[in-house]
Parts: sequence; C-alpha cells; structure tokens
Amino acid sequence: MLIFFRFDAFTLTEPVATPDQVQGAPGSQMRRAHTETPLWPIAQGLKLDNDTPMLMQSLVLGIETTCDETAAAVVERQSDGTGRILANIVHSQTEEHAAFGGVVPEIAARAHVDRLDGIVAHAMKESGVGFAQLAAVAAAAGPGLIGGVIVGLTTAKAIAMVHDTPLIAVNHLEAHALTPRLTGTLDFPYCLFLASGGHTQIVAVVGVGNYVRLGTTVDDAMGEAFDKVAKMLGLPYPGGPEVERAAATGDPQRFAFPRPMLGRSDANFSLSGLKTAVRNEASQRTPLEPQDVSDLCASFQAAVLESTADRLSVGLRLFHEQFGPPQALVAAGGVAANQAIRGALQDVAEKAQTMLIIPPPALCTDNGAMIAWAGAERLAMGMIDTMDAPPRARWPLDEKAMAPAGFANTRAGF
Ligand code: KG4
Ligand code: ZN
Repeated sequence: MLIFFRFDAFTLTEPVATPDQVQGAPGSQMRRAHTETPLWPIAQGLKLDNDTPMLMQSLVLGIETTCDETAAAVVERQSDGTGRILANIVHSQTEEHAAFGGVVPEIAARAHVDRLDGIVAHAMKESGVGFAQLAAVAAAAGPGLIGGVIVGLTTAKAIAMVHDTPLIAVNHLEAHALTPRLTGTLDFPYCLFLASGGHTQIVAVVGVGNYVRLGTTVDDAMGEAFDKVAKMLGLPYPGGPEVERAAATGDPQRFAFPRPMLGRSDANFSLSGLKTAVRNEASQRTPLEPQDVSDLCASFQAAVLESTADRLSVGLRLFHEQFGPPQALVAAGGVAANQAIRGALQDVAEKAQTMLIIPPPALCTDNGAMIAWAGAERLAMGMIDTMDAPPRARWPLDEKAMAPAGFANTRAGF
C-alpha cells in the first residue's frame, strides 16, 4: 500500500537550499527538487509502479552491520545515474572472532555498538559532506545477525530523525546485487551470481526492487563451506582467503571430490556433501602435512569451480528463457574475491556470450558503499521507508521464491 504524505522536513528545515548551495553543494539539486515537490510517495520496502528515476542527484550515507564488518560510507549518485564513492570506511571484526574460529553473534553486536558511531563520523568527515546535505540515510535492515542489524538500523533511524532525512531500509542482498551499477555503467536485466558466507544464489536482476531467484543452495552457502573446510584443516578464520592461498600450492587432482549437482536441470547448488567428503579424507590422513592441506584445499576448490561453472551455465540458460540475453553476468559477495572462481566465471560468461563483471574485491566483501548505493538507487525510484521499518534476520531478495522441494536451508533466507 502506498502512503502519500507531506514530507515537511524538506520545506521546514531546509537551510541548505540557499542559492549558492543549490548551485555548489553536492546533493543540493536534489534537495531543491524536494522543496518543489512537497508531496512525496512513501513505500515501506515496496516497489512503486513508476520505473522512471525521480531524483537528479543525491548524497546518501550507508551503514552496514549485518555480520562482522562495521561499515559506513557516503556515496553520490549523479544525475546520469552513475555513482561516486566519497568515503568508504570498513572495520572488520576478524580479531574479535578469530579465537572462536567463526563469527559469534553477541560479540559482533557489541562490537558494532562500540565502533559504529566513530565509523559514521569518520566516513562523514572523510567525505566532506555535512548531515544536512544528505538526501537519505540507508542501513542494511537484513538479512543477517539480528543483533548487528538492530544496531545499524537503529543508528540510521536516529540520524534520520535528528537531521530530518529520509530513511531507507536496504536489503543487504540487494546491495550486493546493485554494486556493479555503482562501479560502472550497467543496464537491467543482468544475471547475478551471489556467493557469500550466508548466501549462494543465481538471481535475475530485472530492476531496482525486482529480483527473480533462478537457483540457490539447498544446504551450505559457498563461503560457509570454504570457512568450514578451513576450520577442519586447521587454517585460521576467515577461511575463504586461507583456502585459496593454500590451494595455490596444492594439486587439484590429488583427491577426486564429488562435483555436487553436476548435470541437473535446475540451477541449485549443494555444498554440504563436498564439505563432508573433505572432512572424511582429512580425518583419514591425520596428522596432516602442509602439502596434504594444500592438496585438500586445491582439490576442494577445483570441485567448487566445476560445480559452480555447471550451475551457472544452467542459470544463464534459465535467465535467457525468461528474460532474453543478459546484459552481463555479475559476481558479488565475498567468494567473488577468489581469483580461481573469477577465472572459472570468465569461461562461463564467454560460453554464454555475455560479459563478466566483478566489482573490485573491497566492494565484493561487505561494505557501506554498497548499502549507500542501494539506498541511492531506491531513492531515485521514490522508495523510502518509515521509522517502523523492522530489522530482519531473514529477508529473501525474491519474496516469491520458495525453498527447493525437499530441502531445508538454514541460512539461505527462507
Ligand atoms: O559477502 P561477505 O563479505 O559477507 C557475507 O555477507 O557473508 O562474504 C564473506 C564470505 C566468507 O565466508 C569468506 O570466507 C568468503 O566470503 N570469502 C572467500 C574469499 N574471500 C572471502 N571465499 C573464497 N575465497 C576467497 N578469496
Ligand atoms: Zn554480504
């Protein structure tokens, strides 16, 4: 349901809209547009029917706290739809969690509380932007660890209320999905391969707020499998980059691990059987020599690559059937930082005659710029949220997507 109300904040508390600021200050054009258009559509996380971008230029503060990165960024969306990062501050909580071999939700939430104010202040200072110039404050409202989500979303609400600025509750997965439009020019629709610590999905990105899930993991997420393999082999947390590093000096053919889901007509993934195969092989060889660890990592990674290439070729075919040729294959999420996976995706894209786009590694892993950008994209479509926007531990990108029959995924958002 759409609610129209008068956003008096723009007209009553608009000291920035002096003539010189309108011409010179970043975001000022957009704010002038607000004062001229007092009736403003509000949608609580809903897509409006209007596909035409409504705003010219905007500055958005983005806050990310869904897992173990405390992050804030200021991003500018230009009038031509391109983006510019003015500041992007990320504090990774690796040290806080390292002793436990994984993210401890309560420690994560407390660390977000301790750090977030300082990180927001740092991002604002580095960007050179004042709160009064912001067109909106965006926060990741899920999916993720609920304690952290509450910290980020509540902070964003407080900033929005104090500075009379619209709030945008961003789906963390949508932020990953839209990142390539921040780093370059990319039209809809495109095919997204999202592989992180909590999600592994193939998604048709049809437009802002319009996603169709084509495939998903039926058990573990890909980053989760990397992390668990690292842990069982005695490698430090976070495991993904450690497995990649060890694999670089290993023999990918020494262990013939299963290639999950190979040849299936759906585009789903499965990682848990492969992970168990690595565990069985490792436990038979304990104590492991360093070369064993490298060979196990290389053989595991080779199985992931082959399975991923197969699943994505099916996903791209499904995409083609429903939406025509994709503008690109886009990879996002922490696993997309893996160089070997990047190489495999290149081959898949070439075979499907589409281009491969992978944001730089720092924008593949969790960050505030992607949240700010998703906020700017939503704002441009007239989508903002009210103060009762809820924090959500689970929040599927494609609200209509069902769990694959017969499977129960604990972390994939359904
Ligand atoms: O997107 P992200 O930063 O946070 C989540 O939303 O989960 O992804 C983190 C995940 C972790 O599981 C991490 O081990 C994995 O991405 N990862 C990698 C690599 N770098 C990060 N997995 C494989 N190879 C890498 N180089
Ligand atoms: Zn993420």
